[in-house]
Amino acid sequence: MKKKTGTSRRKFLQTCTALTILGGRSLSAFAPAESGNNERASKERRDHYMVFSEGHIGNMRLKNRLVRAATAEGSAPGCEFSDSGAAIHNALGKGGVGLIISGHIAVMEEGRAEPTQTCIYKDRFVSSIRKIADVVHQAGNGCKVVAQISHAGMKADVEHPVAPSAFRWPNTIRETRVLSTDEIENIVTHFTEAARRVQEAGFDGIEIHCAHGYLLSSFLSPYTNRRNDKYGGSMHKRVTIVREIVAQVRQQLGTDFPILIKMNCNDNVEGGIDINNFPALANEIAKTGVDAIEVSGNDTCRTELDDIEKQSYYLKYMERLNLDIPVILTGGNKSIELIEEIAQNGKVDFFGFARPFIREPGLPNRWLEGTGSEECTCVSCNSCLSFLGKGSATRCRLEQ
Ligand SMILES: Cc1cc2nc3c(=O)[nH]c(=O)nc-3n(C[C@H](O)[C@H](O)[C@H](O)COP(=O)(O)O)c2cc1C
Repeated sequence: MKKKTGTSRRKFLQTCTALTILGGRSLSAFAPAESGNNERASKERRDHYMVFSEGHIGNMRLKNRLVRAATAEGSAPGCEFSDSGAAIHNALGKGGVGLIISGHIAVMEEGRAEPTQTCIYKDRFVSSIRKIADVVHQAGNGCKVVAQISHAGMKADVEHPVAPSAFRWPNTIRETRVLSTDEIENIVTHFTEAARRVQEAGFDGIEIHCAHGYLLSSFLSPYTNRRNDKYGGSMHKRVTIVREIVAQVRQQLGTDFPILIKMNCNDNVEGGIDINNFPALANEIAKTGVDAIEVSGNDTCRTELDDIEKQSYYLKYMERLNLDIPVILTGGNKSIELIEEIAQNGKVDFFGFARPFIREPGLPNRWLEGTGSEECTCVSCNSCLSFLGKGSATRCRLEQ
């Protein structure tokens, strides 16, 4: 699928952590200029762009290369997916994106990241998440939808979050408890059961959340996984839990149901996943039999991305990959011209967007039609993150 060539993408200069949110400034300081935050507006349609060409993940045909990256709706206090979440997915489905990845859905009660997260740890939740699949398919735009399933691990909203070993992420607040082998096997079963329910609910595939310091992310990381059993001790063993989940899901659901994985290319901590060990780890993940890898990092929501040099910030990690399966680059994709250039260079197959689509669910159509700015109007201020866990649906706080 990919040309394995280099790219002319410039160097990235600076990183910002996800939660240096507003830095004391008022929201109006971030308001975009009237015609978007880039003056290079164009009016030509972009049907001929590679990013608007068809692509495949496994046997799932996608009408373009634009993906809504998982974005928690934060509006399911009783675990059940809400009407406000459905409205968000309806707007996205109509807005021209090729694939929607749902907000993370908890596979176990004790793995919930926040009290308003949607759940799928019981059969009775199937009808709730079916609303997501239905609303996207009913938008009638050929958009596909995948459910992201997760266990928040050390980041779970419980008194004693669980972890692979005693080594915690630097910003972990609570004391963690180390999982036994039996408990890990039980978690594998919960992921598999969740995948079965996702298929029953009518989704086109699943994405297993192995990024952002969540449970599977901390199994993959040499920083947080210091076990010395079948689940840790070498890179191959750190991948065991993912290998078992993928194998069991394949056994239950067959080879036709697409499985995506979202993983860190950078744990943002010394001794963790970094630019040097990431390519080998991605290879090992690909060998588990997944259909695509979405690349993210522990500093996933960087801010202050006005300078185009700072956008699409995990590209330099992707350039080191040489995989036979498609890869999705997520994080700071803001300019249609830049991502088209990246696509042309052949190292990235799909592009994920979270914050830009919160502000502009119709961004893919706008870019296709060639109206307005070549950049999204999202200013990467992270104010949308402040809604998580509060019970009201995720949205942009800036004036439209
Ligand atoms: C409000 C909000 C909710 C998010 N929820 C999830 C989630 O449920 N699962 C996930 O893997 N990432 C989640 N993310 C991270 C995004 O998928 C993405 O990795 C990150 O925002 C960087 O992409 P962007 O620059 O396009 O926003 C969320 C981000 C935001 C802003």
